[in-house]
Amino acid sequence: MAYTLLTDISMLVTVAAGSRGRKSGEEMRDIGVITDGAMLFNEKILWTGRTDEAQNYLENTSITAEIRSANGKTVMPGFVDSHTHIVFAGSRANEFARRLRGTTYQEIAAEGGGILRTMRATRAATEDELYETGRHIAIAAMQYGTTTIEIKSGYGLTVESELNLLRAANRLRKDLSQRVVVTFMGAHDFPPEFSQNRDEYVQIVCDEMLPAAAGLAEFCDVFTDTGYFTVEQSKKILKTAANLGFRLKVHADELSPFGAAEMAAALGSISADHLLFCSEAGMDAMKNAGTIATLLPGTAYSLRLPYAPARAMLDRGLSVAIATDCNPGSCYMENMQLALSLSCVNMRLTVEESVTAATLNGAAALGISDITGSLEMGKYADFLILDCAEYSELVYHFGGNRVSEVWIAGKRTV
Ligand code: NIG
Ligand code: FE
Repeated sequence: MAYTLLTDISMLVTVAAGSRGRKSGEEMRDIGVITDGAMLFNEKILWTGRTDEAQNYLENTSITAEIRSANGKTVMPGFVDSHTHIVFAGSRANEFARRLRGTTYQEIAAEGGGILRTMRATRAATEDELYETGRHIAIAAMQYGTTTIEIKSGYGLTVESELNLLRAANRLRKDLSQRVVVTFMGAHDFPPEFSQNRDEYVQIVCDEMLPAAAGLAEFCDVFTDTGYFTVEQSKKILKTAANLGFRLKVHADELSPFGAAEMAAALGSISADHLLFCSEAGMDAMKNAGTIATLLPGTAYSLRLPYAPARAMLDRGLSVAIATDCNPGSCYMENMQLALSLSCVNMRLTVEESVTAATLNGAAALGISDITGSLEMGKYADFLILDCAEYSELVYHFGGNRVSEVWIAGKRTV
């Protein structure tokens, strides 16, 4: 692939981390800005530096490149949305309207709504329909700058229907311009068939679903919370998954303080996600184990719950990632720029911390920060050109779309 030299970048936000592949605590404030920057890339990044050094570099290496000016705009790594549930069927707009009138998420779930409503629509849908829903959302997410997206199953809750979701997600992985990482989440809820015998469902997840999902998903995730999977049940599933070669994630302490963060840390989970009700002990355990705290501020916003204790996590030196949690129930939002805005204004992250959380640390939460998430030599040229001269406009000028170009592996996709 031919080389392109992008010059006259007012702020080249590299988020460079060298071989560390993630940033923790105070390091998250350093986003490696090069003013009047330039970047040389084909599929991958060959060089970053200042525009006035670029000509010299080209001459010394005798590389020929097409030169393109960024005209004084900001360039940053593409967003890595490391937590979504975008393959599903049906709408829960009605439930959302009820929640605005005061009914809680848990009350709706207890009536057989919530995840189970989406489950019924999903079981009735074809693989093509599930694929189309995911495609539509992923493309919208890309317009807002998402260059890598994780996709979970979890609305089928039978072997057959979970496999349908995983196959749809894998087709998206092949067809979309974005990088896609697939997660199996058969332990998202208990289907009504097993409401009286929950352990039997856990057994089916372990004995039938996980072996069938191996090869179709890289991660296994479990919803460990009040009314969903207990710590014991979650452990059983996650240990079985680890033995089959899955990497682990946990929906932890989203609705109540449940000891799920502690469990995620003890099992060597790459991340614990949500954490609205994470305890101090949970944070300490995650810090000691190196578990990434993936925060999903859109969910707290949409459920009107208190936000995750992001500042306490950063002050402890945790690695924090942010993602959308895009799903039809608790947070129907695919826009990472909005996740940054909520993170800064409501979780008190600085702009720099939120940029690191949404790029490099998101990639780390997917185990791919060696290939994407920052603009450094050897990584894929997955980047955004913003329509502004300063990166802080990304959060300052909110509610619209600051992304004017999206590039993935050196190819323009938006
Ligand atoms: O991440 N917590 C579990 N799963 C989703 C919600 C799923 C739904 O309501 O459909 C979440 O919030
Ligand atoms: Fe989620």
